[in-house]
Formats: sequence, C-alpha cells, structure tokens
Amino acid sequence: GDIERDTLIGAHELAAKLYHYLLMNTTHGQPALQYLRSRGVTDKQIDHYMIGYAPPEWDTLARFLEKREYNLALMEKGGLLIAKQDRSGYIDRFRDRVMFPIWNRDGKVIAMAGRMLGEGQPKYLNSPETMLFNKSRNLYNFHHARVSMRKSRRVVLFEGYMDVIKAWSAGVENGVASMGTALTDEHAAILGRNVEEAVLCYDGDNAGQAAALKTIPILERAGMRVQVAMLPKGMDPDEFIEQNGPQAFMRETIEHPVSATKFRLLYAKKNHILLEEEGQKDYLLEAVGIIAALDSPTEREFYLKELSREFDMSLDSLKQDAFERRQQLQ
Ligand code: CTP
Ligand code: MN
Ligand code: MN
Ligand code: MN
Ligand code: MN
Repeated sequence: GDIERDTLIGAHELAAKLYHYLLMNTTHGQPALQYLRSRGVTDKQIDHYMIGYAPPEWDTLARFLEKREYNLALMEKGGLLIAKQDRSGYIDRFRDRVMFPIWNRDGKVIAMAGRMLGEGQPKYLNSPETMLFNKSRNLYNFHHARVSMRKSRRVVLFEGYMDVIKAWSAGVENGVASMGTALTDEHAAILGRNVEEAVLCYDGDNAGQAAALKTIPILERAGMRVQVAMLPKGMDPDEFIEQNGPQAFMRETIEHPVSATKFRLLYAKKNHILLEEEGQKDYLLEAVGIIAALDSPTEREFYLKELSREFDMSLDSLKQDAFERRQQLQ
C-alpha cells in the first residue's frame, strides 16, 4: 500500500545519503573516489547525481536500516536487501560498488544501480523490479532533464549512466537513459508528452548502433522526430568526452545529428562492399526500399536525389523502383 511505498522511498533516500557519505567522507570510500576521479568524474557530478559507494561488508545497509527500525522484510521486497539462504536474516544487495541512485519523476530515490570498481560481472547491478521501480517506465535522469526537455522540446537518449552524467557537464541538460533494457513504447509515450524531437546518442559499437536502429521506430510511433548523433566506431559518449573533451562532443556529435533516414542509409551501407558491383547494386536497392517507406513525397524525392548524385544514377529509374517498392508496402 501507500504506507509501504512511502517507507520504502524513505529507506532509499537514506541509503543513497549513506552511500554518498561513505564515498565522500570515509577512508572506506577512497578507492571508489579514486576510481571515479580516474574516469574523469568531478565532485560537481558526484554531488548532482548523488553518486555513492557501497562498502564490501555484508550488512552495512542492513544494520543501518535495522537500527532505524525499518522492517527488513519490506527492505528485501524493495530490493535493497537480500534474504540469507537459511532465512536467518538479511544482507545488503549492493557491496563494493559505486552507487548511482535512480529517481522517479518526482525526484524521489526508488532504486539503485551499482558499478564494479574494475572489470567483472555483472558490471552493473540494478535494483530488481519492485512496487516502486518499473524498468519499462522509468528513465534515468528524467526528473533532472524534464525542465530542459520542455524548454528545448527535445530529449537526448543515452545508453548508460556515465554517458548521461558526463554529457550533463558538457551542457546536455536534457539527457536520459533507459537502464539495461531496450527503450519501450511506455518510455516513448512518456517522452512524447514532453518533447517533439529525440536525439539518439547510443554507443558507437555494433550493439549500440543496432539498438539505435530498433529504437527509431519506437520513438517515431510515439510522435517524435528522430535524429541520431553519431560517435566514432567503438566509442561511447563517456569515452568520447574523456578523450576529446566536452566542446568537441557538443560540436561534433550532439549539435550535428543525422536524420533517422540518413542513419538507416548509413547503417545499410556498412553491410555492403561498395567497391564491388554486386555490393553497389544491393545497397542501392536496399536504400531505395528505405526511402520508399517514407510518407512524405518531398522527403522521398530529397533522398532519392541524393542517391542519384552519389551513384550517378538517373532519378527516373530510382523513382520507378521506389514507386514499385511502395506499392508492395501497401
Ligand atoms: N547495463 C546493465 N547491466 C550490465 C551492463 C550494462 O544494466 N551488466 C546497463 C547500464 O545501464 C549501462 C548501460 O546498460 O549504463 C550501457 O552498458 P555499457 O555500454 O556496457 O556500459 P557503460 O554505460 O558504458 O558503463 P561504463 O562506462 O561504466 O563502463
Ligand atoms: Mn555498450
Ligand atoms: Mn557504454
Ligand atoms: Mn565501458
Ligand atoms: Mn561507458
């Protein structure tokens, strides 16, 4: 009920404060703080995102909550604790991890994500789905980003926590991320109520680009215009900012996204060997198929013209093919 929810939110708020305190003010937190610094995370970012550290002991949070007379069974239900195998008590879910609080739309902490300090599996451990936390509806940083989203009519979508945090310092105040799940129609509907345009800024690896391709129609169905900010091969936004700095990130990626159609064409192009005749023809036909699916005749002509220039083809034949492809679609 409502009382359980409020209690659980209170416990999350306390846990986030505890972890943040341990990171910033204790020797236990030093390695984690060093880890964050080595990744270029600033005190301002740590503060704004209330980043923390869960120590390696089994029951730091469990004892802390018990002392404050929280019902530990409820804390387990809420994902902060785990019941011991023999059911004799509870241990902390998050141990020896850098902690990222996850907020709901009202800015209340409702879940946590913990990252390992080095390599290892799982890299991120997230709270499970609970009465407070629904992964297919919640977006990381939404409560911070909302004002800027409404003002700019635009949202920037990232894959990861670090991407959102680093991009914020580069000036992206309207950045959010889905957490370890693909973007859902529910996510998109929430975004669609706040913005007209979504800029996808996913990782520059194959997984990230494939995810971007799948996410485009989800956002379009929710009524948003979609653009894609491209990153160099294999780099994610956080790595790009670390290597090239915030200005370069803004100038070279965020401020110059390509249209969803252009992205689809570029993505298709990568799968063809354009130096070979067959590869060229295959790509051309695939590209015509992508363009044929566009609703606006003007947009279709625009991209067909581009294609005709690029491959020195007559616009007539491309239009003819596009027309036939369009009839097959209907
Ligand atoms: N993720 C997750 N569980 C994992 C791995 C990833 O929930 N075991 C989610 C996290 O939200 C993560 C996002 O997927 O931020 C993107 O994954 P990845 O690109 O692998 O991580 P990064 O965000 O780049 O993490 P880092 O920069 O800390 O290495
Ligand atoms: Mn990735
Ligand atoms: Mn990444
Ligand atoms: Mn990484
Ligand atoms: Mn990263």
